Amino acid sequence: MAQKFKVAVLPGDGIGPEVMTEALKVLDAVEKKFAVAFERTFANVGGIAIDKEGKALPQTTVDICKGADAILFGSVGGPKWESLPPDEQPERGALLPLRKIFGLYANLRPAIIFPALTGASSLKEEVISGGFNVLVVRELTGGIYFSQPKGIEGQGRERIGVDTMRYSIPEIERIAHVAFQAAQRRDKRLTSIDKANVLSTSVLWREIVESVAKQYPDVKLNHMYVDNAAMQLVRWPKQFDVLLCENMFGDILSDEAAMLTGSLGMLPSASLAEGSFGMYEPSGGSAPDIAGQGIANPIAQILSAAMMLRYSFALNEAADAVEAAVEKVLDQGLRTADIFQGKPGEKKINTREMGDAIVANL
Ligand code: NAI
Ligand code: MG
Repeated sequence: MAQKFKVAVLPGDGIGPEVMTEALKVLDAVEKKFAVAFERTFANVGGIAIDKEGKALPQTTVDICKGADAILFGSVGGPKWESLPPDEQPERGALLPLRKIFGLYANLRPAIIFPALTGASSLKEEVISGGFNVLVVRELTGGIYFSQPKGIEGQGRERIGVDTMRYSIPEIERIAHVAFQAAQRRDKRLTSIDKANVLSTSVLWREIVESVAKQYPDVKLNHMYVDNAAMQLVRWPKQFDVLLCENMFGDILSDEAAMLTGSLGMLPSASLAEGSFGMYEPSGGSAPDIAGQGIANPIAQILSAAMMLRYSFALNEAADAVEAAVEKVLDQGLRTADIFQGKPGEKKINTREMGDAIVANL
């Protein structure tokens, strides 16, 4: 009997359905190659859910997700829904509630430069020759974005804005475990980011990360102040394997790391809950400027599916195979429009052809 996993498939809006089709083709190929089965249930989310069911995150969709082992998410939003009140819009109305309902406290965002694409980066070739692969592990439900008290107090010129950064030991421990375990599956190097020279939360963060480290003697841990890390990422990104960050530092550093790769259509992400449940989606949005043309890059969606195989289903071999197939296709010179540079040996292809090529290389 094949191992069976339940996947809630939420394609969403814009290029979401187009790139999701290709990711599902890749899952079909994984089923054949690795004797596993993915039982897929489709659900509406975002703008299409507003149009069909009156709400960006309908209860039917939540129920389908609750019955699944993981969520494969496309992207949501577009000009059609921008005049709605903020809380009802596709992104705010669907993504934030999903994070909350499922307790998705760990956000994993790899910034990957494939060797074949070093020309797309904003960094000098010699800094990134041979490519790099940095994983940012960001705490997603605590810290200064959520802690109380919070708000603007007082009147007129006397007003003060207040945000509070607060982290409890269990909150630090659980995100640290995610980061150490991710490092164990990779190059076994972890850099914990803090500002322990100034912030009390960081002093506690460093102490707890040190104590969690004792359970992972095979992972090499170092600590770095966030300002230095911002600098080191552009100076020599290859020094990093996994970066462990609290919420705000991770927000900033993961965007910085993503931009070093120069190609939004390539970057996957995972948001994990306690246990093995997770939601997997491209780092980019619904790209309304190219939606409906069949030219979007499906690689971010396909690599998000690979992260699902790795982090929710522990199918590491299958995840490796998908990632290797993507790398091979890039080595063959095949490029969607967003990563096409017109170099000798490159061939411009569309969304479907990219999906087919990756399947063929599996
Ligand atoms: P975006 O990421 O959709 O697009 C930015 C640029 O990157 C565009 O030029 C787009 O064509 C390009 N791009 C993105 N993904 C691509 C891919 N796979 N292949 C080729 N090119 C790609 O961000 P933008 O324009 O700020 O937002 C557009 C809509 O997406 C908005 O409604 C926004 O709210 C929503 N959005 C949704 C997110 C989500 O579902 N998680 C995240 C970010 C934005
Ligand atoms: Mg951000």
